[in-house]
Amino acid sequence: MTDVQTEIAPVTRPNGKEPTRELKGLVLSGGKGSRLRPLTATGAKQLVPVANKPVLFYALEQLVAAGIREIAIVTGDTGAQVEAAVGDGSAFGAEITYIQQTAPLGLAHGVMTAREFLGDSPFCMFLGDNFLKQGIAQHARRFMTGNAAGQILLKRVDDASAFGVAVLDDQGRVLRLVEKPKEPISDMAIVGVYFFGPEIHQITPTLKPSGRGELEITEAIQGLIDAGFVVESSVIGDEWVDTGKKDDMLEANRVVLAMIGRRVDGEVDALSQIVGEVIIEPGATVIESTIRGPAIIGAGTTLRNAYVGPFTAIGERCALTDCEIEHSIVLSDSAISGIGVRIADSLIGKEVVVERSAQRPQAVRLMLGDHAHVGLI
Ligand code: DAU
Repeated sequence: MTDVQTEIAPVTRPNGKEPTRELKGLVLSGGKGSRLRPLTATGAKQLVPVANKPVLFYALEQLVAAGIREIAIVTGDTGAQVEAAVGDGSAFGAEITYIQQTAPLGLAHGVMTAREFLGDSPFCMFLGDNFLKQGIAQHARRFMTGNAAGQILLKRVDDASAFGVAVLDDQGRVLRLVEKPKEPISDMAIVGVYFFGPEIHQITPTLKPSGRGELEITEAIQGLIDAGFVVESSVIGDEWVDTGKKDDMLEANRVVLAMIGRRVDGEVDALSQIVGEVIIEPGATVIESTIRGPAIIGAGTTLRNAYVGPFTAIGERCALTDCEIEHSIVLSDSAISGIGVRIADSLIGKEVVVERSAQRPQAVRLMLGDHAHVGLI
């Protein structure tokens, strides 16, 4: 599987104020996931796969790559699934503590929920649905060698209205932070990776629920600034995706697949063509099919007379027969067969069946979950 970040850098905070303590990790993996329904009606949005690996795993790997071993994951209704997928953390080289949040009352509420775990340690809070290509090691190092009470990452985006935003002065210092502004006051979106010292715990108890009923981390950071603490920011060039929606998932999938390399461990027959960077996991079978990478085919999946085009991730134990698909994600145990048109730009869940039917009268017959979206030609 792809390792997006491999750099290991032990981190302490030798800034005089908080000498040589370890940075802890706090991953927020609760919340509702309403924009990815029906996929997330019952499943955790942080477990939706990017290049066949849950998006949450990239955050954990990147925290570990930054030298952070002691990590708490804040969970909500889907806590049991997250715990089953991540385990005790040993697979990541981390020690993981699970903390149940009573309800998704906001990111700052997540920090308050983890108060005991965090103690007075500095920490990196990583939102479990955020994906960064290059990881966080250099940002962790900057925070631990400085004396800021907070450090945020910013990314210039075309439309910042779906994010928290920062207004900077001409020196690049943060003047003001606003959560999902109605008016376009800045194109600097706040990335879901934050660094805090223990000063943040002075602010969180003073917060009031926002218009959307949450204790906003954006307001907590504003509180730090208003109280005179130093809050640093870095504008990142790194590719960043908040994977809340289908097209964002496809974008993260594209970013990871673009760097997977080639590895063919499954069976490929002589009539098949594998072009470019393609991973075929052990136990996968490719018969009379063409795969044009970058693409990944999960373990135990069978392709028969199929075309899998660029930027496609097919999960484990799927069956694709007489069909074409590209720029898509298919989760495990799904079957697609006999489809006369190419499937593109699609996110297909677990155990889904998409098939051609000989039944008369000819019609499209659907059994779709709530909030499903179908685009027919
Ligand atoms: O992605 C970056 C954005 O993340 C920032 O620009 C915003 O300032 C910040 O508020 C946040 O906005 P979102 O609306 O995208 O946050 P969301 O509700 O999607 O939650 C982010 C993650 O935190 C997600 O994995 C669910 C988890 N979460 C969320 C809440 C509200 C919790 O674990 N507990 C919660 O109470």
